[in-house]
Amino acid sequence: MPRVRRGRREDLEDIVRLELECFASPYPPAFISYMLKSSTHTLLVCEVSGVTVGYAAGRIEGSRGHLLSICVSKRHRRRGLGRMLLKAMEEELKKKGAEEVYLEVREDNHAALSLYASAGYRQAGRIPWYYEDGCPAIVMRKSLKRMQAEPPQPPQADRLPPHLA
Ligand SMILES: CC(C)(COP(=O)(O)OP(=O)(O)OC[C@H]1O[C@@H](n2cnc3c(N)ncnc32)[C@H](O)[C@@H]1OP(=O)(O)O)[C@@H](O)C(=O)NCCC(=O)NCCS
Repeated sequence: MPRVRRGRREDLEDIVRLELECFASPYPPAFISYMLKSSTHTLLVCEVSGVTVGYAAGRIEGSRGHLLSICVSKRHRRRGLGRMLLKAMEEELKKKGAEEVYLEVREDNHAALSLYASAGYRQAGRIPWYYEDGCPAIVMRKSLKRMQAEPPQPPQADRLPPHLA
């Protein structure tokens, strides 16, 4: 059974591995390490049989959440894990006060564009020459205002609500 949980410092190596596998311009380990310690950042990892196969990073920016990164290891794609990570990140950012989530995605990243569109994200802008190779970014946003609040959970260090675990 896949489960999503909050990232811990010990997850650094796995997250670096995923960034290297999934992105042409991966985040440097120092930035991931910083995000793991930062109170304004949320890192979630997705595990299958105890192995980390995906992760997502987000940041709270006032009343907005910013999805910074999301990826799933190639051999575990198209099994709903990306969608699961995205939903869990939205719930975490909402708990931290986000009324909406926004993100940038490469204009040629059809898999991610399709994931976001099917999860309710809509195009909010386009930034030419955003990526190093000159590819434009599509800015997408989604309001979280109508998202159902989670029932209160007992405090636990790094666990998400049971339906996500
Ligand atoms: C984008 C990514 C995270 C999706 O992860 P995933 O676990 O494969 O996604 P899911 O299985 O949850 O798919 C959810 C939906 O996304 C869309 N989708 C995912 N992969 C797709 C693909 N290759 N082609 C078209 N649509 C795709 C579909 O709408 C899919 O729903 P469906 O399976 O019911 O058709 C994954 O492809 C990835 O890690 N890509 C590399 C990193 C990346 O580009 N991240 C996004 C940066 S903005």
